[in-house]
Amino acid sequence: MQYVKLGSTGLEVSRICLGCMTYGVPDRGNHEWTLDEEASRPLIRQALEAGITFFDTANVYSDGTSEEIVGRALRDFARRDDIVLATKVHGRMRPGPNGGGLSRKAIMTEIDHSLSRLGTDYVDLYQIHRWDPHTPVEETMEALHDLVRAGKVRYIGASSMYAWQFSKAQYTARLHGWTRFVSMQNHYNLLYREEEREMLPLCADQGVGVLPWSPLARGRLTRDWDTTTDRSAGDVFGSRLYPEGDRTIVEAVTRIAQERGVPRAQVALTWLLHQDTVTAPIVGASKPQHLQDAVAAVELELSDKEIEELQRPYTPHAISGH
Ligand SMILES: NC(=O)c1ccc[n+]([C@@H]2O[C@H](COP(=O)([O-])OP(=O)(O)OC[C@H]3O[C@@H](n4cnc5c(N)ncnc54)[C@H](OP(=O)(O)O)[C@@H]3O)[C@@H](O)[C@H]2O)c1
Repeated sequence: MQYVKLGSTGLEVSRICLGCMTYGVPDRGNHEWTLDEEASRPLIRQALEAGITFFDTANVYSDGTSEEIVGRALRDFARRDDIVLATKVHGRMRPGPNGGGLSRKAIMTEIDHSLSRLGTDYVDLYQIHRWDPHTPVEETMEALHDLVRAGKVRYIGASSMYAWQFSKAQYTARLHGWTRFVSMQNHYNLLYREEEREMLPLCADQGVGVLPWSPLARGRLTRDWDTTTDRSAGDVFGSRLYPEGDRTIVEAVTRIAQERGVPRAQVALTWLLHQDTVTAPIVGASKPQHLQDAVAAVELELSDKEIEELQRPYTPHAISGH
């Protein structure tokens, strides 16, 4: 495994981050395709054994049970100081007023619930899962800053939003002397490259680390276009993200993977790892082979010609995943 600094911070993270949305009680929350605790634990352990130290979850994943499963497994299999643990806030956790969003009340409540589910005193990276248009950004940024001051959070990050929103949050924090975001977790993969227009140049300019979510387009980049799996069949959100025209990109991945004799997932992940702006893709792994491919991708090299071939079929997409 390789380790890099997260953006311009001193924090070292593994080049692969394990996405823990895959782990959660299947009949809690919105993801009925998740692995239960018994099936999740060996994969979390395998990730640790492969040198992965960076784990991403969210309060909202499987109604908090992802945080519980990940927290227990990391306590059993790792030392807290060796791990970079990331979670998120914004999604709705309860019906009724203040059950979601980025108000001071929601943030202060949700961090305590996340810490209790994760079984830890602090989160390394606390991310806002989305932009909250109904809360003044000053209120959100000050509340996040206060969590850092209180020692509950080491760094703060953001996730999918428009570049103008991210920029506004950053300059608001700077104006007030509050903590700024060190990372952007955004939707970026060979099938969705709209982030290359505004968000990625902004992150590069400002020294913000980039953590792409769904780096394999939720599995689309790893198999024939028409093949479905248990997860893809029940993945309502994912089914809206990638139009039919993306088939040609999957075919380009397939060609290069066949020429090299490696699984398609390795080619697609290596392409992302070759992008200068990318710190660590957040990979979803539901089988041991998925982790093996993710780790192997860190060492794979693609030629300029192969990269060009992978990129050529891309056509502009409507903004999605915000
Ligand atoms: N911030 C956000 O809004 C946001 C949104 C989405 C995700 N995320 C984060 O990103 C993480 C990853 O998302 P994701 O699970 O959608 O990512 P992904 O890596 O694009 O997709 C994972 C799926 O791809 C397939 N796959 C992975 N490796 C494979 C391999 N080597 N060979 C064949 N198939 C392979 C598996 O599908 P099957 O299980 O179907 O076989 C696996 O479940 C999440 O866990 C979460 O932490 C964040």
